[in-house]
Amino acid sequence: MTVTLSVIKADVGSLAGHHTVIPEQLQVASERLKKATEVGLIEDHYVTAVGDDIELIMTHRKGVDNKDIHGLAWDTFMEVTEVSKKYKLYAAGQDLLSTSFAGNLRGMVPGYAEAEFEERASEPVVILMADKTGPGGWNLPLYKIFADAFNTAGLVIDEKLHVGFTFRVMDVYQDKIVDLRCPEEIYDLLALIGTPDRYVVHSVYRRFDGIIAAVASTTRMSLVAGKYVGKDDPVLFVRAQHGLPAVGEILEAFSFPHLVEGWMRGSHNGPLMPVSLKNAKVTRFDGPPRVVALGFNLNNGKLVGPADMFDDPAFDGARALANEATDYMRRHGPFMPARLGPEEMEYTTLPVVLKKLENRFRPTSEVIEVAR
Ligand code: F6R
Ligand code: MG
Ligand code: MG
Repeated sequence: MTVTLSVIKADVGSLAGHHTVIPEQLQVASERLKKATEVGLIEDHYVTAVGDDIELIMTHRKGVDNKDIHGLAWDTFMEVTEVSKKYKLYAAGQDLLSTSFAGNLRGMVPGYAEAEFEERASEPVVILMADKTGPGGWNLPLYKIFADAFNTAGLVIDEKLHVGFTFRVMDVYQDKIVDLRCPEEIYDLLALIGTPDRYVVHSVYRRFDGIIAAVASTTRMSLVAGKYVGKDDPVLFVRAQHGLPAVGEILEAFSFPHLVEGWMRGSHNGPLMPVSLKNAKVTRFDGPPRVVALGFNLNNGKLVGPADMFDDPAFDGARALANEATDYMRRHGPFMPARLGPEEMEYTTLPVVLKKLENRFRPTSEVIEVAR
C-alpha cells in the first residue's frame, strides 16, 4: 500500500514581529489534525514551527494534491489565524492571500512538499524546514546529497546510488519543468540551479528504479501574490538509507552554511544556519536564515519520531561559520551582494527614488555645475 507524506506550511501570524509562534497556535493546529486522525482522514500528524512558519506534517492514503488534505491544511491555518487575531500577533493570516480555498494548494500561498510512495520495509525520512529564505535555498544541498561524491560516499560505493539520480528542475518564472540525469548532465544541472531564484529543484528520483527520493516546496510567494507578502520559506523531505542517501549524507550537505536569498525584508543574502527546534527562531537582522531537520520513520503510515537532527555539537562549526558569515555580510550594509539585486528584492524604494530624480538626471556630455 502506498503512503502520502504531506508537509504543508504557512506563516499565519507570529510573536514579536516575524520571530516565532506561540504555543496556543501550535495547540489549535495539533487539535485540528488530531481530530482528522481520529476520523481516519489522515493516518498521523506532527505539528511544529520554524521561525514564524507553522509546519503541518501529515501522512495519509489520498495521494498528492488531494482536495480533502489540502482543505484540512487550509482550514487549520484559518483556525490558527483566529488565534493570531485574538492576540493581535503580527501579520495574522499573511499567507492565506485568497479568502477562499479552490480545491488544492497548487499555486496558492501555503507551501507544500508532498509525495506518494510505497513504504519500504523500513522508511526513514528527513524533513527539512527553513525560515527566511526561498525554495532555491535547497538547490546547493540537494546537489551535494544526490550528485556530489565528496558529500555522499554512497554515490561511489553503493550500487543503487551509483547509477545516479534524476533532478526535476522547475523554471519558476515560466512554470516549466525539465528532467536532468546525473551524473552525465551535472554541468547542465549546475548551469541552471546555480541561479536559485529562477531554477529550483522540484524533486529527485533514483535512476536505479525510478522511485522518488526527495521533494521540495516550489511556491514562489512573490510571484503568486504579484507583490511582496512574506518570504516563501521552503520545506523539503528526503527519503534515506538502504540504497538512498544515508541520513548522515543528507545532514552533511548542511555542514556548510551557504548563502541563500531572503533574510531581512526578503532582500538580502545570508548564511543558512542549521539549528535545533529550540533555536528555530530568527533574531539578528531577522535571521540569519535557519534550517531545522527532523528525522522520522514511517511505520505503516504512522510517524515515529521526530529526532531533532541539528541539535548536535557536530553542527557547532557550521553555526560558528554562519555567525562569521553574518558579521561579514552585515558589514556591507545596503551594498550588493549583501543586498539582493533590484529584480530580486522584495522591498524596494528604487522606482520612487528614480521618479523623484527623473528631471535631475542630465546627459553626461552636458557640462553642468555641481549642485550646492
Ligand atoms: C523576511 C521577513 C522580515 C520582514 C521585516 C519587515 O522574510 O519576514 O524580515 O520583511 O521584518 O516586516 P514588515 O514590513 O512587516 O514590518
Ligand atoms: Mg513572516
Ligand atoms: Mg517565515
